Amino acid sequence: MGFSVHWSWLTAFSCLLCMGGEVRCDCTEEKIQIEGGHYTLTKQLTVGSMLIYQCPKGYYPHPYLSRHCQADGTWRKPPKRFDPQRCKLVECPDPFVLEYGNVSPPQERYFVDNETTYECYSGYTMRGSSKRVCLPNGKWSGSTPICSRDSGDNCADPGIPAGASRTGNIFEIDDTVKYSCNGNLFLVGSKERVCQENGQWSGKEPACYYRHTYDTSLEVSEAFGSAIKDSLTTFEPLDDTQEGRIIRISKNGTLDIYIAVDISASINETQVDKAKDAITTLISKISTFDVSPNYEIIFFSSEVFEVVKILDFFDEKIVLSTIIDKIKNFEVEGRNTGTDLNLLFTKFLERMSIIKLRVGEKVFKEHRHVLMIFSDGAYNMGGSPEPTVAKIKNMVYMNQTDEDKTESREDYLDIYIFAIGTEIFDEDLQRLTAGTGGSHYFRIKENTNLQEIFDSIIDEEEVKGLCGLHKDYKATEDSNRKMYPWWALVTVQYEGRLENCLGSLVTPKFILTAAHCFKFGALPEHVTVELDDGQGRVKKVKTFKLHPNYNITAKVKKGVAEFYDYDVALIQLVDDVKISSVARPICIPCTQETSNALKLVGISTCKQQEQVLFKTHLERLNFLTKTGSIVAEKEAHANLGETRGECIKHALEAPGITTRTLTDVVTDNFLCTGGSRDHIACQGDSGGAVFKNYELRTIQVALVSWGITDLCKPGDRMVGSKGNSRDFHINLFRVQPFLKSILGNDAQNDYTPLQFLSD
Ligand SMILES: *[C@@H]1O[C@H](CO)[C@@H](O)[C@H](O)[C@H]1NC(C)=O
Ligand SMILES: *[C@@H]1O[C@H](CO)[C@@H](O)[C@H](O)[C@H]1NC(C)=O
Ligand SMILES: *[C@@H]1O[C@H](CO)[C@@H](O)[C@H](O)[C@H]1NC(C)=O
Ligand SMILES: *[C@@H]1O[C@H](CO)[C@@H](O)[C@H](O)[C@H]1NC(C)=O
Ligand SMILES: *[C@@H]1O[C@H](CO)[C@@H](O)[C@H](O)[C@H]1NC(C)=O
Repeated sequence: MGFSVHWSWLTAFSCLLCMGGEVRCDCTEEKIQIEGGHYTLTKQLTVGSMLIYQCPKGYYPHPYLSRHCQADGTWRKPPKRFDPQRCKLVECPDPFVLEYGNVSPPQERYFVDNETTYECYSGYTMRGSSKRVCLPNGKWSGSTPICSRDSGDNCADPGIPAGASRTGNIFEIDDTVKYSCNGNLFLVGSKERVCQENGQWSGKEPACYYRHTYDTSLEVSEAFGSAIKDSLTTFEPLDDTQEGRIIRISKNGTLDIYIAVDISASINETQVDKAKDAITTLISKISTFDVSPNYEIIFFSSEVFEVVKILDFFDEKIVLSTIIDKIKNFEVEGRNTGTDLNLLFTKFLERMSIIKLRVGEKVFKEHRHVLMIFSDGAYNMGGSPEPTVAKIKNMVYMNQTDEDKTESREDYLDIYIFAIGTEIFDEDLQRLTAGTGGSHYFRIKENTNLQEIFDSIIDEEEVKGLCGLHKDYKATEDSNRKMYPWWALVTVQYEGRLENCLGSLVTPKFILTAAHCFKFGALPEHVTVELDDGQGRVKKVKTFKLHPNYNITAKVKKGVAEFYDYDVALIQLVDDVKISSVARPICIPCTQETSNALKLVGISTCKQQEQVLFKTHLERLNFLTKTGSIVAEKEAHANLGETRGECIKHALEAPGITTRTLTDVVTDNFLCTGGSRDHIACQGDSGGAVFKNYELRTIQVALVSWGITDLCKPGDRMVGSKGNSRDFHINLFRVQPFLKSILGNDAQNDYTPLQFLSD
């Protein structure tokens, strides 16, 4: 205290004495210049102005990102004598965390455009990117390289992201790995991941960020886009009642979306307008889904301005244009500079409590809550919002304890934080996120166009184009197609013989199936495709094409009665299938669509997809069998790498095989499944997709071709495999030229081609 009195006496000469006797001074531009960059001021040199440093792309301001003009006319933080303000080259985190492999070149630090390559020790195989470049946002391009050996573990080695350390080296079910970031990096994403029964790790791969690391617009729109799309599509109204028992109903009006934008002085005026536009875009996009959510929209600083009131939605029907008008007409007057995040969450909590009282506990239980908060997290009033967030969680989770996990309530609350501003308080903000699945924390560079991000996340056309998107409800007649919206029934009736096969919709006009479904001489008029898209079950067939190398009799003389190599065919329909939640293409390998589904960022390759999809030497896959008018899911494990030899050798035991040369029967184009813990394919399953789910997207990796033994009995199609029974499936990664020549053909005007990856 004595110090400040002494100090204001010194500076009093240059200061104005304002009303009320408080000493207020303007700041000066002395000693605040930045080498290699420039700065902007939010309120010129007056008290409360914020000075924001700007650097060219690939550089960041050091040691400070901003300064603040204080009442006494000085800047906080004061200039540092021995560490002058300058633009420093952006760095990427330490890549020398790779286990069982080499990183080159070794450098003390890695800057933008520096390249690194990764190689595994012999006996180890690599997943992820073997070459990475340091990007201007402070992240490495591509994905984390991982060297691992098949250990028979349930989950694949999750690797170590650049700049991190990991504890935990056993990857069996329920094993945990923990991450931390080294040096002055901080962790974004899951600190802890658990190996789950389905062979996948819980949560999301964490990353280590510097204060200068941020997410690009593309990263945000992809990550947030897929998260919100998943939420919105599962909110679709569904009336599934069975024997009067309600299975899962999401009625209209049970989705509550809360949006809040920080307008305290740390974020300037033009940005308030931009935020208004961004929110308008976001809610317009959401309205393209079959949902009508209730909205609470708030602008806040030390006060809370409730622009759209959620309680109004319970009194009357509010149309979209009313919401948009309310946002447009909102003006902030006499804005004060504080930020009270706790007040914001308290308002949300209050609104939720009132809704709960009004609709009753039972209905409230069906409500889903999505909170989106835009802030830099610099709260300076009201205290920490954490206890209030805990109360919100308690309210939504209904005090669910760990033992009582019959139905996880965590799906009912998502808190997304968009960290935006000059200086972000990451630790405080990250703690406020909630929800399962993908990212809930986004670190956005200050002058990023949010509207553009939202504009590209939910594009009606794009949603239609999302391959493999499906629901994961438990099957009932009605929801069966939503779980497998791509399956089709293919019937070929020719010369008195009837061949039943399955197929998969791979574009609105093409069905992928097995070549052996088509007996020699069959014509398009002998083929029927059934796929109920709500526009009639039976689809007209224009033509079909078998793989040019397919020849079932090719090796008769060599002792192979039926040779199934290249057992793949494409059927072209006359009209496009109408895309909806009950009819949608499955994702197929080596396409850009599949890279998006797998969340591979930037330029990706076919090989990367293969690495993501075939992670272990015993990869769990599924295929379908038709029972009545619906399909049921079977499970099998592809034997890859070391285990493949043992699996395929049983092919020689198949009827009609007299050769002893294995390669004459099974080529590299087949995946092998079977053995005691798998299901076996039945007659009629042929041509169907062998697939893997990646979150809510389905990727077809193979198609059912042939098997050694027929164990199926009428009325029992879910048969288990015996010790030596094996099935062989055409690996779609091995028939790319054929798929690409037709589906990727852009030299025709019949259909929109798929975008195949170049390698
Ligand atoms: C607000 O900030 C942006 C980016 O930092 C800048 O371009 C704009 O001029 C500022 N607007 C005002 C009114 O200060
Ligand atoms: C890494 O980047 C820095 C800064 O651009 C540059 O000086 C250096 O030569 C680069 N190193 C390599 C090996 O490319
Ligand atoms: C939900 O609301 C939309 C739009 O108002 C309407 O088209 C739809 O039929 C409603 N669904 C249910 C289940 O009430
Ligand atoms: C949840 O717990 C809180 C405090 O622990 C209690 O006040 C509240 O009544 C509980 N709510 C329910 C629905 O059990
Ligand atoms: C299939 O292979 C056999 C044996 O090599 C050959 O005679 C026959 O012409 C082939 N058929 C086709 C359609 O290529």
